[in-house]
Amino acid sequence: MRILVTGGAGFIGSALVRRLIDHSDHEVMVYDKLTYAGVLSSLAPVAESGRYSFVQADICDAAAVAAAMADFRPQIIAHLAAESHVDRSIDGPGEFVQTNVVGTFVMLQQALGYYRDLEREARAAFRFHHISTDEVFGSLGDEGFFTETTSYDPRSPYSASKASSDHLVRAWGHTYGLPVLVTNCSNNYGPYHFPEKLIPLIIIRALNGEPLPVYGDGTNVRDWLFVDDHARALQAVFEKGTPGETYNVGGNAERRNIDVVRAICAELDRLKPREDGKPYADQITYVTDRPGHDQRYAIDATKIRDDLGWTPAQTFEQGIGMTVRWYLENQAWWQDILDDRYATQRLGVG
Ligand code: NAD
Ligand code: DAU
Repeated sequence: MRILVTGGAGFIGSALVRRLIDHSDHEVMVYDKLTYAGVLSSLAPVAESGRYSFVQADICDAAAVAAAMADFRPQIIAHLAAESHVDRSIDGPGEFVQTNVVGTFVMLQQALGYYRDLEREARAAFRFHHISTDEVFGSLGDEGFFTETTSYDPRSPYSASKASSDHLVRAWGHTYGLPVLVTNCSNNYGPYHFPEKLIPLIIIRALNGEPLPVYGDGTNVRDWLFVDDHARALQAVFEKGTPGETYNVGGNAERRNIDVVRAICAELDRLKPREDGKPYADQITYVTDRPGHDQRYAIDATKIRDDLGWTPAQTFEQGIGMTVRWYLENQAWWQDILDDRYATQRLGVG
């Protein structure tokens, strides 16, 4: 099949593309604007593949989206392009509304026009797969899990923009008959994760001897999923999922932030002890909390397990070990980002 991946130079998109080139016969076109979060070197492992191509363009640019569809003739559109970082959305929400809401609207309109022009057989196979987040469901207390029928209650500009895009996608399915799929996934982590996010930020700052910032009291809980497991879930959904359905994807690995940070420190103590022999955990610093910080996310992923046979392959402990080792062995990947862009653009300053 031909699969158009928007946001394919990002963290999850690039993991999906690497997986599709390595583990399938599908052809892939990446459509990506290369914002600060788009990292072409994350696609270096597939760059030489004859089944991979790349277009640098904005999802808000209707003509460019239409041209890419007309040129590539996708059977699947996997829509991952988005502004993804919650802290940046608090500092500058405009870009989130533009990319996540308007951009998704443009993608839907262009996909609908393209879909309506397809032959009957090609229409039956076509899918528009929208990749979304568990943050649309809001914040949990100590008990309970998000299911596919949990009411939406987004509480940050990021999650509100993603919730809006989810509603648009479902509306295009119901009203216009576009064969849509939606997945809502928990926190991903793993190789090629942009250094502004908690796990890579802690690894890199620890290695640089810098303070390790933990927001608030560190008791906020996230459900962590190794990114390659998410890529496998996405492939299962667009290959086997039922149009119109939503699937929650999660790692069944709830951890408090402070425990995540301590786990990273322990792994670094083992793999690359500090020169002064002290534990990396000595660098932990509690800092001012994120405004409106959601307390707990937890996913019930029963449906995707029962309907599509997907379960996560990695435990959190295995995944964190692999991730810390990857950052130790791939310093050039993240040092380039720090040198070029991260220093000036972090937290929406640039
Ligand atoms: P990311 O920030 O790493 O990558 C986003 C990609 O989209 C980048 O390559 C960027 O250049 C591209 N992009 C941004 N604006 C664009 C535009 N206007 N036109 C074209 N391309 C544009 O994000 P990620 O963490 O890989 O997340 C991918 C998707 O998955 C997002 O939709 C996000 O909401 C969702 N999601 C992320 C997580 C997570 O834990 N990271 C969890 C669940 C869902
Ligand atoms: O739940 C899925 C979401 O996970 C995705 O939709 C988002 O795109 C993705 O960015 C992620 O959002 P979070 O806000 O949960 O991820 P982040 O890595 O920014 O933060 C994880 C937790 O760690 C969160 O509770 C805030 C906290 N944190 C974060 C940073 C950057 C800290 O304590 N210190 C930090 O320096």
